[in-house]
Amino acid sequence: MNRKYLLIGACAVVAVAAYTTLRPAPVDDAVQSAPTEGRAMVAIQMPSIEGNGAIGQRIFENACAACHGSNAVGIEGAGPPLIHVIYESSHHADESFQRAVALGVRSHHWRFGDMPPVEGVTRGDVAMVIDYVREIQRANGIN
Ligand code: HEC
Repeated sequence: MNRKYLLIGACAVVAVAAYTTLRPAPVDDAVQSAPTEGRAMVAIQMPSIEGNGAIGQRIFENACAACHGSNAVGIEGAGPPLIHVIYESSHHADESFQRAVALGVRSHHWRFGDMPPVEGVTRGDVAMVIDYVREIQRANGIN
């Protein structure tokens, strides 16, 4: 790979890492003001997604992106980014994704309100969504 691209990639990773570690606790900056409504909440580096992750991507876009944003970058005023250090596997293991989808989530990290259970998505579907989200997390220095 060309050195220039490596450098650009490294800068992006450092920027994301700096952003995720230096920003204040999510609850404090989840203020939902009108001018930023609808905007992505984090800037990410997108890896190429293949195999189960690619199936997971389609499921995610259909069932989750309305709140969590395309590629899980969050949407101001709608839902949090899952490409965020608080969702790394040591804090939110894969089973917490399964539980979130099956049972919903009572709001505790952010101020978007509760996540309702998502109908019509199986455990197998969620496993592929997890593959997808973890791939993007890894590409952005999370995990
Ligand atoms: C109607 C909006 C909405 C939809 C649709 C939605 N979510 Fe969420 N989700 C939320 C909100 C809001 C939170 C944050 C709750 C909090 O911690 O404040 C959340 C939190 C989560 C969490 C963190 C759970 C925890 O234990 O803290 C996971 C994982 C998650 N969502 C996965 C998904 C997946 C996968 C889908 C699609 C199958 C999905 N969500 C669809 C709104 C949504």
